[in-house]
Amino acid sequence: MIREIKKNIFAVGVIDWDRRLFDELIPLPDGTTYNSYLIKGSEKTALIDAVDPTKEKELLENLDEAGLDKIDYIIANHAEQDHSGAIPALLKRFPKARVLTNQKCKDMLMDLLLIPSERFLTVNDGEKISLGDKTLEFIIAPWVHWPETMLTYLREDKILFPCDFFGSHLATSELYAVDESKVYGCAKRYYAEIMMPFRSYIKKHLEKLSSYDIEMIAPSHGPVYNKPEFILNAYKDWISDNAKPEVILPFISMHDSTKKMVDYLISALIKRNIKVIPFNLTKTDVGELAMSLVDASTMVIASPTVLGGPHPQVLYAVYLANLLRPKLKYVSVIGSYGWGGKMLDIIKEMTGNLKIELIEPVIIKGYPKEDDFEMLDKLADNILLKIN
Ligand code: FEO
Repeated sequence: MIREIKKNIFAVGVIDWDRRLFDELIPLPDGTTYNSYLIKGSEKTALIDAVDPTKEKELLENLDEAGLDKIDYIIANHAEQDHSGAIPALLKRFPKARVLTNQKCKDMLMDLLLIPSERFLTVNDGEKISLGDKTLEFIIAPWVHWPETMLTYLREDKILFPCDFFGSHLATSELYAVDESKVYGCAKRYYAEIMMPFRSYIKKHLEKLSSYDIEMIAPSHGPVYNKPEFILNAYKDWISDNAKPEVILPFISMHDSTKKMVDYLISALIKRNIKVIPFNLTKTDVGELAMSLVDASTMVIASPTVLGGPHPQVLYAVYLANLLRPKLKYVSVIGSYGWGGKMLDIIKEMTGNLKIELIEPVIIKGYPKEDDFEMLDKLADNILLKIN
């Protein structure tokens, strides 16, 4: 199936309705798409990004449907296999095609997909190529989300092809982002899981893009933005330093002591008009937790003690939060132990990436008692003081 998004520009990618996990790590509750765009210039033809290798047959069928007898350039904005994996099959099908990318991406593609050096053409930042009546400009934009990433801008049609950047994991029959609340959620989840660690790079890329006249953003996952300000404004909000006065509360409890503390703290925060979002880590989708980390100023980690340390699933959540480098400002820890342990020390060690202030933790022995509830009230007071 191919769809024309503008004259002589076609969406030729594939919808993956069934995929539920990416990188064997990231949940995909809404599936995903691998978008590929065919641009037929008056002299040359270019394909922007390919698809996941599991879908290469569909991509080749789509290109047959487009009636192609040649591709001159296969533009590789990013070396990750969900976009590059079908390139070897394309090179076989179109023996005169060249892979056009930057040097770093070329090195990675040779390494990951064993594509021979002679099949490449390399470009530098700001370089342009002509397809006849259409001109492609390449913008080197590292770390969205690998070091080799670049964006392609189609001058005459004012379309930005940013690959993963601005993308969303959303399988939908709608070519454009018409259901904005749905797309917003998926794009935010995508940002949280993939882009958030690179906020400072994204800030610079957005500044650079502000000098481009962009009428459409066509990412390589999810719908096309025919109103680009929708996603540009969302990104500006997500990368800003303004954390929202919200408390996220990932927790696990084995025998209810920690759960009693969690319930008490939730009520104490609600009484102080503080928004709190609890995540039972035995049930939650970690993508939801990642999304909440985009905005929240405060996280309280709640864990029982297992063999002297935090519950391993709590450690997983803390490890993930540390990797994602959210704009959290305050962290506290609550929980219970039976006979001792180093829960706090271990959690502190694992949050080295976060520029946070630790609010006095409440770690108690056994089931919570009157004094412990008073300490939880004090913690809620301290949080209120900090976030206001
Ligand atoms: Fe969609 Fe980084 O690949």
